[in-house]
Amino acid sequence: MKLVFVGVSGAGKGTQAKEICSIYNIAHISTGDILRSHIQNKTELGLQVKEIMDSGKLVSDEIVIKLVQMRINEDDCKNGFILDGFPRTLSQAKMLDNITDLDKVVYIKANDEDIVKRLSGRLICEKCGSMYHKIYSKPKVNNICDNCGDSLIQRQDDKEETVRERLRIFHEMTAPVIDFYRNKKLLAEVNGIGDIKEITNSIVKALEE
Ligand code: AP5
Repeated sequence: MKLVFVGVSGAGKGTQAKEICSIYNIAHISTGDILRSHIQNKTELGLQVKEIMDSGKLVSDEIVIKLVQMRINEDDCKNGFILDGFPRTLSQAKMLDNITDLDKVVYIKANDEDIVKRLSGRLICEKCGSMYHKIYSKPKVNNICDNCGDSLIQRQDDKEETVRERLRIFHEMTAPVIDFYRNKKLLAEVNGIGDIKEITNSIVKALEE
């Protein structure tokens, strides 16, 4: 199964992609996670994109397209994958169209004000990638990862003014991607506000329709 998850920053793409990947045994490809691991490892690419990501702007199409092209050819993608956070521009969507077919595009919907509240509470573990929320998904011990015991941090781009910039960019650059897939009759729309498990169930239902 080959899927794309699209939605505003913080809509729950990463949270839901993890659940759906384990249900269908497919690979989770998050362009944001790939780029953040380059920043953490201080690679040439990481140094090149750090400032752009910290400011909430989009990394160039050329860079992300190359990363995705390489990633979807890896062995763990043979059974399928979820692209989380890609495509985000019409050029990325058109390029993806040239290299692979998709089964469905899941649009996880959420309104901007809920997102600002949600992202200001997000905590992540840089070491193992686990994700928490100060209110909705607390770690067992304050600021410590349940999974690996490392300290939890707030993402640089989760500060309120940067979140608002990411939302603005979504409405300007990514909204046309949603129309692109709607016209291709690939779009399944799911409400991203509410209980995490219930949202997973609605996605499964949409995928099996
Ligand atoms: P990326 O990492 O993709 O960030 P994003 O799209 O802004 O999405 P997020 O990871 O912030 O949110 P999410 O929807 O995955 O929500 P999550 O599940 O984490 O991209 C970061 C940057 O990388 C971009 O700004 C850009 O610079 C660059 N980039 C990446 N891809 C690119 C591309 N294709 N082209 C160009 N540049 C690119 O959930 C958020 C929080 O909410 C968590 O704390 C979670 O626990 C909580 N939560 C989730 N669901 C619920 C729920 N139902 N109720 C309550 N809390 C919930």
